[in-house]
Amino acid sequence: MSSRISLVGLFFIVSAVAISLQGANAATTYTVGDSLGWTIPPNNSVGYYEDWATNKTFQIGDSVVFNWNGTHTATEVFSEEEYENCTKTGLVIVTSGVSVLLNANGTRYFVCSVGTHCEQGMKVAIKVGNGIPPPPPPSAAPSLPVGSLAAVVSSIFMLFFSYM
Ligand SMILES: *[C@@H]1O[C@H](CO)[C@@H](O)[C@H](O)[C@H]1NC(C)=O
Ligand SMILES: *[C@@H]1O[C@H](CO)[C@@H](O)[C@H](O)[C@H]1NC(C)=O
Ligand SMILES: *[C@@H]1O[C@H](CO)[C@@H](O)[C@H](O)[C@H]1NC(C)=O
Ligand SMILES: *[C@@H]1O[C@H](CO)[C@@H](O)[C@H](O)[C@H]1NC(C)=O
Ligand SMILES: *[C@@H]1O[C@H](CO)[C@@H](O)[C@H](O)[C@H]1NC(C)=O
Repeated sequence: MSSRISLVGLFFIVSAVAISLQGANAATTYTVGDSLGWTIPPNNSVGYYEDWATNKTFQIGDSVVFNWNGTHTATEVFSEEEYENCTKTGLVIVTSGVSVLLNANGTRYFVCSVGTHCEQGMKVAIKVGNGIPPPPPPSAAPSLPVGSLAAVVSSIFMLFFSYM
């Protein structure tokens, strides 16, 4: 009887620890615009979704979900200038309810590519973490090791020739 009680107690302790551990670094899913969803904001307020995003701390691992009825898209554009310009070409999400994983620090830009919806305020910039994008992967071999390799090779040749 007593061992059964302690097993139940242990179960609760383990669950509590598991839940608190999960809470410590839980990823958050944000619904863009909350209950309004993703639509032309009231009064065509261009700053509406900017205000929505302002005080949120988006972190790597969090997601944003765009929910809409009617004819809209969530189109990701890839620079602040395209965002300001309401550029209509980008990575287009045509289905409401798709969640977008924020997988790196930096700023993600989303607009609606339908008609003048973006100009009417359907645009949001999401600043993730410190807002600093990760450096691009190195494309070419860095010049320093090549230079030092050449130096080593030429020293070997010089040693070889002085030995001769
Ligand atoms: C829209 O604008 C009108 C007139 O300026 C104002 O009375 C109303 O409160 C505004 N609505 C919202 C949701 O901001
Ligand atoms: C953001 O936080 C600041 C300071 O707490 C507050 O003054 C402001 O109204 C908040 N903005 C929004 C859109 O919630
Ligand atoms: C879409 O329409 C349904 C039914 O009217 C409503 O319950 C839901 O809140 C709407 N969603 C958005 C994002 O407007
Ligand atoms: C943004 O618009 C300006 C002015 O029309 C234009 O000069 C610029 O090329 C546009 N930039 C992009 C990235 O579309
Ligand atoms: C992302 O930004 C946060 C600050 O909010 C920082 O603590 C973290 O180190 C950054 N992560 C990367 C991979 O740069």
